[in-house]
Amino acid sequence: MDRPLETMAAPEPGAPAGVLWPASTERGEGGQLVFGGLSATEIAQQWGTPVYIVDEADMRARARAWVEAGAEAGIDIYYAGKAFLCGEVARWMADEGLNLDTASEGELRTALGAGVPAERIGLHGNSKSDSVLRRALDAGVGRIVLDSLEETHRLADLVAQGGAAANVMIRVTTGVHAGGHDFISTAHEDQKFGLSIASGAAREVAEVVHESPHLNLIGLHSHIGSQIFDLDGFTVAARAVLTLRAELEAAGIDVPEVDLGGGYAIRYTGLDAEAPTPRDVINELVAGVVVENDKLGTQLPKLSVEPGRSIAGPPGVTLYRVETIKDQPIEGGSRRYVSIDGGMADNIRPALYEADYTAAIASREPSDELITCRVVGMHCESGDIVVRDVALPADLQRGDLLAVPATGAYGRSMASNYNMVSRPGVLAVRDGAARWIVRPESFDDLARLDPELTPAD
Ligand code: LLP
Repeated sequence: MDRPLETMAAPEPGAPAGVLWPASTERGEGGQLVFGGLSATEIAQQWGTPVYIVDEADMRARARAWVEAGAEAGIDIYYAGKAFLCGEVARWMADEGLNLDTASEGELRTALGAGVPAERIGLHGNSKSDSVLRRALDAGVGRIVLDSLEETHRLADLVAQGGAAANVMIRVTTGVHAGGHDFISTAHEDQKFGLSIASGAAREVAEVVHESPHLNLIGLHSHIGSQIFDLDGFTVAARAVLTLRAELEAAGIDVPEVDLGGGYAIRYTGLDAEAPTPRDVINELVAGVVVENDKLGTQLPKLSVEPGRSIAGPPGVTLYRVETIKDQPIEGGSRRYVSIDGGMADNIRPALYEADYTAAIASREPSDELITCRVVGMHCESGDIVVRDVALPADLQRGDLLAVPATGAYGRSMASNYNMVSRPGVLAVRDGAARWIVRPESFDDLARLDPELTPAD
């Protein structure tokens, strides 16, 4: 690798953004990074750090690209809200023609509260409470994705107490294992999600649904994992799902739809392979489904998919301030530790999945001399690493701003208050204007939850 990591990762003046960095990113005056027309320094001064920044136009464009690619093949797109959801994002997705996949009562309430039409909302979950099922039924959500036989009976009973029959899908496991890390791969059999096709569990639930006057079977659902670059796994999973569908149809059980889930990879560093575009994904899925379906001699199902990360990840950047720099002795030399004002509470992914990120100086032009640094957080754990190895200017100083790209998915949505830090807000930037779409927490917000403390205001 003859180019330093940082210059590969950070947009140079005039270089096209939009691969690792939000589409609007530029190196502006004084070499500062500019997002949505606002410089990093302006953002830090006015809104503080750490802060999650989201490029609204980029996120909308990514959502639209999915809808456009899907439309040609009649495929519905459900945005997976777990990646990052708030009222504004729910509205952006609905505006751009997406449906919304929710996976908890909080996500469901956010979608409904933001005015997303209930028929465009799906509800997932392997452990749904009566409360969330009742809320979904009362609202009239478009689909509830069943995850167990127990839940199937319980949902039918809830409907029997009053209300229209519920449209349901059945989440199946296909034995396909794909994705970046074991914890984010969901379709092998020894895990908590879904109903096994191989063991007959999925078929049994389909039969129960078919017999129930309270449930309408609208489809089968498969989600094989996350951060998947190689799309072949989807074809293998589709084959298993379509085979079960053909068997059910032969038994007189209609299965109009198949959802192939989410999991489409994005680039986190300049060293990652190129990520598949929505059109790549759709073309590949459709080709696989058509081939398998022809073999089975069944009618083509309606298809849907649930991308989360590929819509929310790349438009997001986290902006931090450097607090402390020190060189620690290691065998044969030293390692430069750059400590920032955030860390594992705002981005748990490196600690949880050994996820790689990169970083760039945001407050000024990178100087010529670069040095490999480890960017670490302010939390009380040595595993609190934000970027394991990145080339940063040798003259980096306390007070400089660092930007970490591709944090828009599973950053804020998995943030915690570890060490009593307050979670950063999410600032939407667009055309030189910014606004909070999630307000930052303050210590007072935390103090309000503690009966022994008195909020200052
Ligand atoms: N649909 C279902 C049923 C899912 O379980 C998921 C993700 C998605 C769609 C969206 O997947 P995406 O396109 O965003 O990869 N916290 C982990 C990822 C866990 C994802 C769980 N389910 C991470 O930070 O990488």
